[in-house]
Amino acid sequence: MHIHAYEKLWLALSIVLILALIGTVTYGAVGPGVAMVADSQSTVDPGALDEDDRFSEPRVEQVGENEYEAYVVAYQFGFEPTPIVVPANSTVTLHVTSRDVIHGFEVAGTSANAMAVPGEVSEITVETDEPTEYGIVCNEYCGAGHHVMEGKLNVVS
Ligand code: CUA
Repeated sequence: MHIHAYEKLWLALSIVLILALIGTVTYGAVGPGVAMVADSQSTVDPGALDEDDRFSEPRVEQVGENEYEAYVVAYQFGFEPTPIVVPANSTVTLHVTSRDVIHGFEVAGTSANAMAVPGEVSEITVETDEPTEYGIVCNEYCGAGHHVMEGKLNVVS
């Protein structure tokens, strides 16, 4: 079969484009900071967070050598605990719920993003690398203080 020279050129160019695209996507996935690796959901009684084993004391718990569980409550207008302190180079599962209305939970500048919904527990697993500090922003309109609602995620050595 005879392939015209221009067709060969176009073929080569499209392969280069595809490789560049794969490179971009891969870089995005392994880029610096905190990377989200999984998410799931369960339920909780939003009126009884004070009696819930997970959320009566929002906190970070060590559950394995490099594994942590964080229990986070969003409210008008903030997050508990603040800051959320987790070690570098670890796997952290964040369990996020809301005490009042729907909020967002987004670790600014990373792929880690969840909804904080009353009655539901959003679970996201992230992997941390270098020690640094991240802002947590609410990306769902939740009332007069929405724009000042923020938290902190501190990755420490
Ligand atoms: Cu909480 Cu917007």
